Amino acid sequence: SNNIVVAIDGYSSCGKSTLAKALANKLRFVYIDTGAMYRAVTLYFLRNNIDTTDTGKVTHALNDIHISFKPSPDGVRVLLNNEDVSDEIRQMEVASNVSTVAAIREVRQAMVKLQQLMGKSIDVIMDGRDIGTQVFPHAQVKLFMTADPQIRAERRYKELLPKNPAITMAEVYDNIAKRDHDDTTRDESPLVQAPDAIVLDNSYLTPDEQLAFTLGKIKPLL
Ligand code: C5P
Repeated sequence: SNNIVVAIDGYSSCGKSTLAKALANKLRFVYIDTGAMYRAVTLYFLRNNIDTTDTGKVTHALNDIHISFKPSPDGVRVLLNNEDVSDEIRQMEVASNVSTVAAIREVRQAMVKLQQLMGKSIDVIMDGRDIGTQVFPHAQVKLFMTADPQIRAERRYKELLPKNPAITMAEVYDNIAKRDHDDTTRDESPLVQAPDAIVLDNSYLTPDEQLAFTLGKIKPLL
């Protein structure tokens, strides 16, 4: 098929989804947030006390998990077995456990399969950690996003504070540092820059500047 896939990978909290949403909106592509899929699986495992070291239990649980996206006026919503879990998956409890769940081979196999299906025949912007390396190694455009960890933590802290006034900057920073470490050192599809990815360090770039830069890379292909 000749649909276009834009793959955006990078570290935690460096604005992948902000850029992906803006691009999708501008280009009329469908935005697929693969981190939300791993977060929804994590939420299911937490709610049902699934032992993540028990492969049989994990595989069984995966058969009971149905993840989908639903467009809505306030952006795309994530559904876990038809329940809107978009807000719940952003809580610290999920953030603290998601890298463990995302490191499980069976979980990744199931999610990658679903992601490949979602981007099979329509133009998509997909963000995550392994999109340009594993999910769509032949994506027409690959971006690798990064930013100073301290700046990333400050951005994420500001975003979480209104809904979680007890949260601390140290907690947010530690979570980001831990996820960076776990995501880059795991055996299964570690976060790594694809050789043909365009690097975008957005520490000192506004969302509009990032959008303009990226559109400049995509437009020639349309
Ligand atoms: O993008 P987000 O921060 O929401 O992703 C949450 C977690 O899901 C990441 O820290 C990573 O462990 C995992 N993830 C992944 N592969 C993806 C997307 C997310 O392993 N494609």
